[in-house]
Amino acid sequence: MQVIRVKNYNEMSEKAADMLAAQVKSKSDSVLGLATGGTPEGTYKAFVQKALQENLSLSELTTFNLDEYVGLSPQHPKSYHLYMKNHLFQPLALQPSQTNLPRGNAPHLEKEAERYERMIKEVGGIDLQLLGIGENGHIGFNEPGTSFTSRTHIEKLNPTTREANARYFENKEDVPEHAITMGISSILDSRSILLLASGERKKEAVKRLLEDENTREDFPASSLKNHPYVTIIADEHALAVVSKTDEPSEKDEAKPL
Ligand code: F6R
Repeated sequence: MQVIRVKNYNEMSEKAADMLAAQVKSKSDSVLGLATGGTPEGTYKAFVQKALQENLSLSELTTFNLDEYVGLSPQHPKSYHLYMKNHLFQPLALQPSQTNLPRGNAPHLEKEAERYERMIKEVGGIDLQLLGIGENGHIGFNEPGTSFTSRTHIEKLNPTTREANARYFENKEDVPEHAITMGISSILDSRSILLLASGERKKEAVKRLLEDENTREDFPASSLKNHPYVTIIADEHALAVVSKTDEPSEKDEAKPL
């Protein structure tokens, strides 16, 4: 894993947007894996600006998001479908055929999970997967205890995750109890991974990710140690309690994007 230390959220967002742009420039039919939540909002804003300024060609781009809340329709104001539409798809004028999220209101969720896996496979897999990290170490909505061999599936959200995401809902009881999420194994199939972490809230998770050498299913992000091309962009707040950071470890190398 290569760690890039940055000062703050803005710098993280700019750097991440640069890496997304580099990926798209190097391969115009890139398949991007995307995340939602507070962390990538700045990245999407910076990427939109860059793409428009530089007139990036995005017509061959395909995107797959990590997850969606179970029970929310794509039009629901708190759905990740709408989040993506507002933050990225609409500003970039991406066509609906280019963008994919699992349907949280599909009548048969298991079939939807299978369909989603199939779709990713059909386009040849994900080139670059963007990730945030939960305070409990979740990636996607793979909560602690999820098997490292998991594919897209339905996950019961931890009370702490529902609490962390309550800020987006009127009442905390409104946060759905389940999500449909790519599995750990689906995430690890991506050819490269970019994990972003910003803010003090993430410091314990980032410390464990960087300092604990074990890969354990009770800490989903540790599965990333099994992947050869992971880059982490973290700000000083998220790195606050990590003792040693910015040197890429000797045995790992960052894949040029
Ligand atoms: C979102 C996702 C989650 C978030 C994580 C951090 O699609 O898969 O793993 O990345 O919960 O959320 P924020 O960025 O809001 O702190």
